[in-house]
Amino acid sequence: MDTVRLDERLSAIYLEIPAGGVVADIGTDHGKLAVRLASDGFKVIASDVSAASLAKARRLARENGAEKSIDFRVGDGLNVLADGEADTVVISGMGGREIIKIIADKRIPLYVLGAQRDQPLLRRYLISVNRTILSDKTVKCAGRYYSVIASGLGVDRTLSELEIEFGKDFYDDPLFKERAEKEIKRLTRMYDTLLPENTWGRQAAAAETEKYREALKACRLQ
Ligand SMILES: C[S@@+](CC[C@H](N)C(=O)[O-])C[C@H]1O[C@@H](n2cnc3c(N)ncnc32)[C@H](O)[C@@H]1O
Repeated sequence: MDTVRLDERLSAIYLEIPAGGVVADIGTDHGKLAVRLASDGFKVIASDVSAASLAKARRLARENGAEKSIDFRVGDGLNVLADGEADTVVISGMGGREIIKIIADKRIPLYVLGAQRDQPLLRRYLISVNRTILSDKTVKCAGRYYSVIASGLGVDRTLSELEIEFGKDFYDDPLFKERAEKEIKRLTRMYDTLLPENTWGRQAAAAETEKYREALKACRLQ
């Protein structure tokens, strides 16, 4: 079998998936992760709500000799799975709100979630439905920063507001530090270009800057 090269974002997701179980890639689209997993011997279910997207994944699998090793299913979210069928469910490349709608309160042993936005909302939700956040990494891919959250069953400790905002691993994460420094520069520029009468805009930029400053102060990296 040939293999598919994963970018930094999909590689970070791949690395959170333990060997040995069944992995469902929900919203697989291009299918790169599913095909790579199948090529590496994982049992894979690849699904998408869009038949056209799933056709892309199937084509990639065929080109890489992995079509027979993947169970392709068209459908909405976790409806494509029978109870207990998947050990790990990956949902990535969607917003936190969309991910929350999909995971609802299903008792999946391990979620690996790549939310493109609204990560604080997703973290708060996971904690509220008694899931624990096992790891929460910043990933940089093509100049953009992403979060990859692995969440298991079990009650987590209470997270601080900074941990809800940036993930509980930000203290030791060099990529988070890099991102925070860039964000502070960007927000400061934004603040300076806003007219003084735009008090709402300036207050919002200042509050956001303050959050990043606080997080940087809490970082254990120099
Ligand atoms: C931007 S792509 C992400 C592809 C891939 N997972 C990644 O991370 O690169 C989002 C895919 O999710 C699919 N999708 C959106 N909502 C879905 C749902 N409720 N159930 C299954 N698939 C969904 C879309 O059709 C689309 O193919």
